[in-house]
Amino acid sequence: MNRTDQWDDESRARDVADEFRRLFDGAPDGVWAAPGRVNLIGEHTDYNDGFALPMALPRSTLVAARLRTDGRLRLHSAQGDGRITDLDVTTLAPGAVTGWAAYPAGVVWALAEAGHPVSGADLHFDSTVPTGAGLSSSAALECAVAVAYDELHGLRLPGADLARIAQHAENAFVGVPCGIMDQMASVCSTAGSALHLDARSPERHGHVPFDLRGQDLRLLVIDTRVAHDLGDGAYAALRKGCERAAALLGLPALRDLSAGELPGALDALPTELAPLVRHVVTENARVVEAVSRLREGNAAALGPILTAGHASLRDDYRVSCPETDLAVAAALDAGALGARMTGGGFGGSVIALVRFGQEDVVGDHVTAAFAAAGHRPPHVLTATPSAGAHRVTAPLEGTRPALS
Ligand code: GLA
Repeated sequence: MNRTDQWDDESRARDVADEFRRLFDGAPDGVWAAPGRVNLIGEHTDYNDGFALPMALPRSTLVAARLRTDGRLRLHSAQGDGRITDLDVTTLAPGAVTGWAAYPAGVVWALAEAGHPVSGADLHFDSTVPTGAGLSSSAALECAVAVAYDELHGLRLPGADLARIAQHAENAFVGVPCGIMDQMASVCSTAGSALHLDARSPERHGHVPFDLRGQDLRLLVIDTRVAHDLGDGAYAALRKGCERAAALLGLPALRDLSAGELPGALDALPTELAPLVRHVVTENARVVEAVSRLREGNAAALGPILTAGHASLRDDYRVSCPETDLAVAAALDAGALGARMTGGGFGGSVIALVRFGQEDVVGDHVTAAFAAAGHRPPHVLTATPSAGAHRVTAPLEGTRPALS
């Protein structure tokens, strides 16, 4: 049942380019990939200016892209309804595009908003990142466009700037008030490492070696198949709660509250805000500890940190659900070193750190627990820390950025 999640991006890129030719008549200028992510620790900390430790998945969104000179933006997705969405780049505005096309269109709009010259394009997407699984399919879609445009227009923006542009697209164009973690993970990750993010200064991110194989460990990603949707208002309400707590404490953000100051702050805050603050402060500390353990070469020590993070999300932040709680409990019961929900919550996926050879035992136990509880079978994968967004195809001979 379990298998290491591996995809051959180059053969996928050939298929995507072939489909582009069929749809848009002629070859693309190139094919780019942007991955989904899991977050190891540091949940609901990014919009509090705090820390996170995500890693890119071997699953990505590919985009075959070719710039146009007539200002049309034509979008097609292998996961869509078969239709081509045809837009005018000069009239893009928040609210004007709905559905999946709002994400790529939003990035083109956000690039223009940031003062970059952007032309129209033909874009064909194909993704292996499941949607609604809390694995950042939206960020993968956005970041694929961001890196493709960056290269085709010769912008050469730093990764953190591309991530900011993608986040701005999601916040202001699509209307989802996410933080910057997913976009940073998608753009800036490197293979074999987790990304150490300080959301207050994303450009100063670091890469922390996460050598699962060398330490006889594996990371399971368990998609509970309970659809997770950040747009439903709960995420926005939590974010507002944190901002209100920081304002009441007279702080720029909850990141500025130290562990030593926490007890006094909890006494001073309204009862509905105190647990949120406790989660954020303790979660930031868990990221710091996790990074130390990984730097010491002790990835197994992440286990209890993950499990403590889940308890905090379940009991204080209250963003877990019966299925994610069950997946965590069953994974631990079967011998996982640690497990937690990952991403925004309200469904989505769980990660479990297991010893090499235990993947099937843990995966089967979780699947059996789901069956006993009457839930749909989860999807279980073994993930390796993968590369961030990049061009998959070699640059085409004679291709030049077509600035308009
Ligand atoms: C979602 C958001 C991120 C982050 C996480 C929670 O994935 O897109 O910015 O806030 O939830 O850590």
